[in-house]
Amino acid sequence: MPILSGDGPYNAQARKWLEDHFKAPLVVLTPSCTAALEMSMLLMEVKPGDEVIVPSFTFSSTATAVVLVGATPVFVDCDPQTLNIDPEKIKHAITPKTKGIIVMHYAGISCNMMRINQITQAQNLFVVEDAAQCIGALYNNHQIGTQSAAAAFSFHQTKNISCGEGGCLVVNDPQLLERAQIIRDKGTNRQQFFQGQVDKYTWMDVGSSYLMSDLQADYLLGQLKKLNIITKKRRSVWQAYHDGVQELEEQKLLQRMHVPDGAYINGHIYYFLMPTPALAETAIRKLQEKGIKATGHYVPLHNSPAGKKYGRVSGEIKHASDCASRLVRLPINPEMTNEEVSLIIQTTKDLIIILS
Ligand SMILES: Cc1ncc(COP(=O)(O)O)c(C=O)c1O
Repeated sequence: MPILSGDGPYNAQARKWLEDHFKAPLVVLTPSCTAALEMSMLLMEVKPGDEVIVPSFTFSSTATAVVLVGATPVFVDCDPQTLNIDPEKIKHAITPKTKGIIVMHYAGISCNMMRINQITQAQNLFVVEDAAQCIGALYNNHQIGTQSAAAAFSFHQTKNISCGEGGCLVVNDPQLLERAQIIRDKGTNRQQFFQGQVDKYTWMDVGSSYLMSDLQADYLLGQLKKLNIITKKRRSVWQAYHDGVQELEEQKLLQRMHVPDGAYINGHIYYFLMPTPALAETAIRKLQEKGIKATGHYVPLHNSPAGKKYGRVSGEIKHASDCASRLVRLPINPEMTNEEVSLIIQTTKDLIIILS
């Protein structure tokens, strides 16, 4: 009978592949990025009464991970250039209750980790990265997800590399390795038992079942081996969009996605900002009517029903609300043909010129 559960041979190979990729001492495959984020909060020993700084412009999972351990997410505004958390606003959100921060790298573009690490190290705060969208993306020649204690990735169907549902936690801090193995395996030291370090395993700490089945790990491994091909194809679609709508930006009809120096994108998302929320809404609706799956992104969490109930806002959050209301994403996937991409560009250009 092959091993189908969480510690089978494909799990080991996919983990090894990812550990080499990230040059990380440990990668734990998880059932989702959400689970990896939840695991990270247990790992960082976040407790009721603590505060964790998070961006408002992000997916719910960044904040639910904090709420599930009884802590309060403190929402901070983004930098309007990248839509990533604004490091200078982090400083003002820090209180005696702050335990750490979860950053999120939007569209595979890294936050300013150098500045963020400077601020957090001075205050002895942890940093966890929500790198759900970032597999294959680099910043200043390092893989995104390697500049913090731990980073969570998603292998959900919508991501560049997928096994249906899935994720991983890249554990960068060597001091966290042993506990990470225990937390992922129902709080037990079963890994030590497998390695012959103890003669029976037992309950050691808090934990849950954060394992990925070997069926999924098998599929994941196949995808990981194609990472370069997938990233190359996505980047070419991304570049075609970016070049295609350049003249609209020159005519001030939209604002293209900004790629800072040093960022090597993975083509996960292509977006632009329309001049007004009404124009963005109409553009999305009309593109959808023409069969193009254009979408917006993220109702800022500080404005969501649960965000208001469980979180707290630090400072004024204006860019997250403004940018989210004007954001239009174009569909992007590695199976798209050149003809499909050209048709989407032409349709988008024609539509935006008519709308304006
Ligand atoms: C920024 C971010 N974090 C977390 C997640 C959750 O990922 P998963 O579906 O693997 O739990 C997503 C999913 O889209 C995301 O975009």
